[in-house]
Amino acid sequence: MTREHRQPEVNIGLVGHVDHGKTTLVQALSGEWTDQHSEEMKRGISIRLGYADATFRRCPDMDAPECYTVEETCPDGSESEVVRTVSFVDAPGHETLMATMLSGAAMMDGAVLVIGANEPVPQAQTAEHLMALDIIGIENIVIAQNKIDLVDNEIARENYQQITDFVAGTVAEDAPVVPISAQRGVNMDLLMQAIEEEIPTPDTAPDTDPQLQVARSFDINRPGTTFDELMGGVLGGSLVRGRLHTGDEIELRPGREFEEEGQSEYRPITTTIRSLQAGDDLLEEVGPGGLLGVGTGLDPSLTKGDALAGQVAGPPGTLPPTWDSFTIEVELLERLVGGDEIEPINTGEPLMLTVGTATTVGAVTSARENECEVNLKRPVCAQSGAKIAINRRVGTRWRLIGIGTLVD
Ligand code: GTP
Repeated sequence: MTREHRQPEVNIGLVGHVDHGKTTLVQALSGEWTDQHSEEMKRGISIRLGYADATFRRCPDMDAPECYTVEETCPDGSESEVVRTVSFVDAPGHETLMATMLSGAAMMDGAVLVIGANEPVPQAQTAEHLMALDIIGIENIVIAQNKIDLVDNEIARENYQQITDFVAGTVAEDAPVVPISAQRGVNMDLLMQAIEEEIPTPDTAPDTDPQLQVARSFDINRPGTTFDELMGGVLGGSLVRGRLHTGDEIELRPGREFEEEGQSEYRPITTTIRSLQAGDDLLEEVGPGGLLGVGTGLDPSLTKGDALAGQVAGPPGTLPPTWDSFTIEVELLERLVGGDEIEPINTGEPLMLTVGTATTVGAVTSARENECEVNLKRPVCAQSGAKIAINRRVGTRWRLIGIGTLVD
């Protein structure tokens, strides 16, 4: 498929149970495959946030929904018009990777919840991901009832009923349910129409100070690269507001860890933007939407292997504070998804916290009725009032137990 690149306007999360078809759906809409990392290939699951851009188009002489397409040429031979480019964040469905799903949620303007029509509703991560959308407050949702090619009419209807019963009373209560087959490309036009209607392009305040949420960081040099050819470290992330230009100076917080007399301390790092990449294109200026690659003057050893994932970047002096410890106003869920009642948080217990794209472990130093104080293992950069997803260790994995607000 031919594809012109445009910077995406909106980030849409793809969430849902493992193997229900998220990656296949992204591929059907964009011609790209987000499972591109070798470890993922081996495990067959999307362990990092995958990204793919898709340009939705419309055939001028056709009515909705048939007019929606990703092809440049319409069935009558005319050329299709661009509606907008969307960026899909392919969140992992695997049960231990909720933290990755939640850090991706920090960058989602809406979500498509993919549910397999060939299994009873809800499967474990369908329920957990919906709850995450609910508590993080992502309200613009479309439900894709996938794999309808595998079931007959009656089962498809039963499954549809199970879906509507399951989402009743949640943030997805009014979300349209679109039956599709991602693998066979059935009803992709209806799904695009629903996405256009339900997930608008956000207002991204272009005149405010830019803020980049860093989700990944890389060293792009091949082994053996000589010093004069060495490229600076690269950040991968999404701009939540404002615009970035090549040549801009940026600060990263919390920054880099220094040890002095046995004490560890994080200090902000400053650097200059050397290049900006959106999809395959190098640009001089970028705005919010999609995953950006930001080439910097940083020593690549600092950015290697996602070392700076979870940090925040922006013009020096404009970023939110860095916290080594904070107080959280806590709202616990009643019970674990599909399971036991949730006990109050105890002093001394370890929690895994997701704040923006950062995931950090903290020890509770004081737990009260609706509040707890936490000492963080790695500090985070966040605004007071930020939402925090709270996970507790249950058995061998971290489970979402509630949502918090950073109070001070
Ligand atoms: P994770 O990334 O591991 O969470 O899975 P996923 O949700 O991305 O699922 P994926 O797209 O990898 O699909 C899982 C399997 O279901 C693959 O073998 C797909 O070929 C198959 N599949 C996806 N969509 C359809 C569909 O519409 N019909 C049928 N028959 N199979 C499908």
